[in-house]
Amino acid sequence: MKNLSRKIIPIGALALAGQIKAQEVPGEITYNGEAGRIINENCVVCHREGGIGPMQFETYDQVRPWAPLIQLKVANREMPPYAYDHGIGIQQLQGDWRLEQSEIDTLVTWVNQGAPIGDPDSPLPTADLNDPDAWNFEDELGLPDAIIPSVPIDIPANGNDLWSTHYVPHGISSDRCIKAIQVKPRGNAKTVVHHANSNIDVFNADGELERYGMLTEYAMGKWGELVPEDVCRIFPSNSMVRWSIHMYPGGIGAVAPGTIIEDNVVEIGLWLHPEGYENEVGYSQDLKQYNIQFAREERDLRLVIPPHGYQMTQGFHSFDHPVRIDSFQPHGHLRMRAASLEIFYPDTGRTEAVSQISNWSATWHHSHIYEPDVAPLIPAGAVLVLKQWYDNTADNPNNPDPDQWVFGGSRTADEMTHAWIAITHLDEEGYEKILADRKEKQSRSLAGSD
Ligand code: HEC
Repeated sequence: MKNLSRKIIPIGALALAGQIKAQEVPGEITYNGEAGRIINENCVVCHREGGIGPMQFETYDQVRPWAPLIQLKVANREMPPYAYDHGIGIQQLQGDWRLEQSEIDTLVTWVNQGAPIGDPDSPLPTADLNDPDAWNFEDELGLPDAIIPSVPIDIPANGNDLWSTHYVPHGISSDRCIKAIQVKPRGNAKTVVHHANSNIDVFNADGELERYGMLTEYAMGKWGELVPEDVCRIFPSNSMVRWSIHMYPGGIGAVAPGTIIEDNVVEIGLWLHPEGYENEVGYSQDLKQYNIQFAREERDLRLVIPPHGYQMTQGFHSFDHPVRIDSFQPHGHLRMRAASLEIFYPDTGRTEAVSQISNWSATWHHSHIYEPDVAPLIPAGAVLVLKQWYDNTADNPNNPDPDQWVFGGSRTADEMTHAWIAITHLDEEGYEKILADRKEKQSRSLAGSD
């Protein structure tokens, strides 16, 4: 732990008085020292030539003019864009972009000190980055074992929402367990693709396609999915992938190009376990959409947000067998501001907070993947409680028009209320085994830390 001995200096006198939540760090902080390292490791991946950030932070000269805004965005945890609440529920997540509080304190102090460059004779090593269009899991897993592109279509520069639903083949010739998946709009497609869901349909004995299930979900800003090591999420070979892509001509947010996007293509990258892996692991995982408050058919009737008003939705789901929750991703549009997942245990009457996102934004749909050792393990009959909050007032920075009535629907200007949850389905034996393994690991680490 750094900064244990730091002095606490009130910084309310700053220009951005009251907005900066951080503590001063002792000593001189410089760009060529700690500040630049933090920016290189956490910001440059998007804030660079060809990246999705609106400005570049590759050199001191590029960073310096933005220092006050960097301070504000970092202190408020708006950048890096990963709004997952601290201090509530599970904090150990895979692919977590949040800065450590000590890193925030360092950047804030650096800007308070005038954002100095530091020793010119020991410049900062340049950020170690791969291609902005590289796959997110490339460093750990290499290139995908299979890439499944959608059929190219041209998106006009403006107009109403567009949807494309179509089938594509995939070339995977035997049933395989999925290790990781990323959906990646190719090039400029990332600015107009709001979501791109992929389903699998399998060929039945008559050679006709039948629904099998969800392959994966993508919405703007999503990183990807890692399937835990001890389960099989199957990709059936005798099948086709059915794309359902929602595009928003002109784009939304700061990256909206407002131009025609030709040959818009979205790709699925699939990393697969070797053949036969399903025999080594006993349990299956799936990713499903869990609705909130109402049945899907009825959504247009029920979800109503008045002009300048608020709404809250709640949903409850339970299972007749024990499960492990592997990931949680709330979904909504421009009026959604917050979401949470809790578990209610009917036996004890206790409710446990699992995840909460209080500053949600439709431009960043993260699938929060729990670290395997802390992924919620829940007994049969426990209830998943999903809550989402909507703000149709002018206080909501994403709200395009607070004078509108907003109803449930698929367009970006409508609202939705559901969550994508990846679940491993267990039996009593598997549940007890995972519990026992965790206990043993815990007692081993306790013994080891004496
Ligand atoms: C995953 C990509 C990504 C990462 C990582 C990222 N940014 Fe950003 N940043 C964006 C995008 C996209 C925008 C513009 C849209 C928005 O504000 O969401 C943005 C906007 C900003 C803005 C301008 C906000 C405004 O109001 O105009 C600042 C300042 C900023 N980022 C700083 C940072 C800093 C500092 C870091 C690292 C600590 C960082 N960003 C990490 C993508 C990223």
